[in-house]
Amino acid sequence: MDLADFQNEIYLSGLGGAVPDLPTDLHRLEELAAARLTPQAHGYVAGAAGAERTADANLAAFDQWRIVPRMLRDVAERDFSTTVLGTEMPAPVIIGPVGVLRILHPDGELAVARAAKALGVTVTLSTAASTTLEEVAAEAGPRWYQLYWPKDRELAASLVHRAAEAGYTALVVTLDTFAMAWRPRDLDRAYLPFLRGIGVQNYWSDPVFQKAVGGPVTDANRDLALLHWVANFGNPSLTWDDLAWLRRQWDGPIVLKGIQHVDDARRAVDAGMDGIVVSNHGGRQVDGAIASLDALPAIASEVGALTTVLFDSGIRSGADVAKALALGAKAVLIGRPYAYGLGLAGEDGVRHVLRSLMAELDLTLALAGRSTLADVGPDLLSRRP
Ligand code: FNR
Repeated sequence: MDLADFQNEIYLSGLGGAVPDLPTDLHRLEELAAARLTPQAHGYVAGAAGAERTADANLAAFDQWRIVPRMLRDVAERDFSTTVLGTEMPAPVIIGPVGVLRILHPDGELAVARAAKALGVTVTLSTAASTTLEEVAAEAGPRWYQLYWPKDRELAASLVHRAAEAGYTALVVTLDTFAMAWRPRDLDRAYLPFLRGIGVQNYWSDPVFQKAVGGPVTDANRDLALLHWVANFGNPSLTWDDLAWLRRQWDGPIVLKGIQHVDDARRAVDAGMDGIVVSNHGGRQVDGAIASLDALPAIASEVGALTTVLFDSGIRSGADVAKALALGAKAVLIGRPYAYGLGLAGEDGVRHVLRSLMAELDLTLALAGRSTLADVGPDLLSRRP
């Protein structure tokens, strides 16, 4: 299947009077989500830390770069497929880890896994998923597991061993969220899904967790389980030295998510990590922090030849993906757009988002004169005048 086939499908369906159920400009999903989702669910996804300046900066940073199209370069045959950390991908686009998806749709992570599998797209399942990692694995295609590294070492080991057992092939360790940041939209509604029992499913199903709370979680020990979750969720005392322990628990590739400084990227390489995600968690953690895209070029030039550099925070279009690739990312992770797609139209909505993004990427690169990822480098872009 050509990535741009989606465009033809849409126009052809139009001959029978059909138009897409969701907007094809993915920026517009958010306004639709604001109108249709519950205020709590919309606020949880759209919201960010503090005054949301970093979330805004993430988007604005893309506008500082402009694509410079080249002509007459035979782009009739195109191939933007790639292999990242041993995983084959139809395009350098990955479903990033977003927790608690059942606040958006009853099928939650399962709907996302099904939509991604049908397109051969890799999913990264969050530790904070509202469906257990084993249940998702049963329905998913290519899959990676994202670890929130808990305080209890035995629990951390159990989570990653379960993920390996369930066929997740890469471990994405999120470093920037050992505590929830100050997030006014959620605070003003006193809304944290975990305390309502959504997003704790990987913990509650874990044998080590269950042992600590006296057995499987029922009404009788539910409060204790929630307290144990709160006490264990994040581990602010971790240091670079702890990565050696994690390496011993996991045989496959390990990727550190949340890198924004060149020196941290360097330390990830020195610690023997296989990749990094240049990410600021969509501006959800440190308000006032730099835009993630602004961190990318220097990091990619420092470690791009030594490790796999991935990117997220602010991808909303195929052009955005092209820009991140040109600035040194090997692939990008998608966050809010697919969450909105899920909330608005379930599995179909996620498929719509993925197909739109990949079709727009293909057309953008073709029209800019590129036919493979090897042709996508810094010369694709110019800084905005
Ligand atoms: C996230 N993100 C996230 N990251 C992670 O490692 N584990 C998680 O459980 C979550 N959960 C989560 C929930 C919601 C509602 C959002 C919006 C984000 C961060 C995510 O992986 C990614 O870094 C950001 O979504 C990127 O920003 P944009 O492009 O979505 O704005």
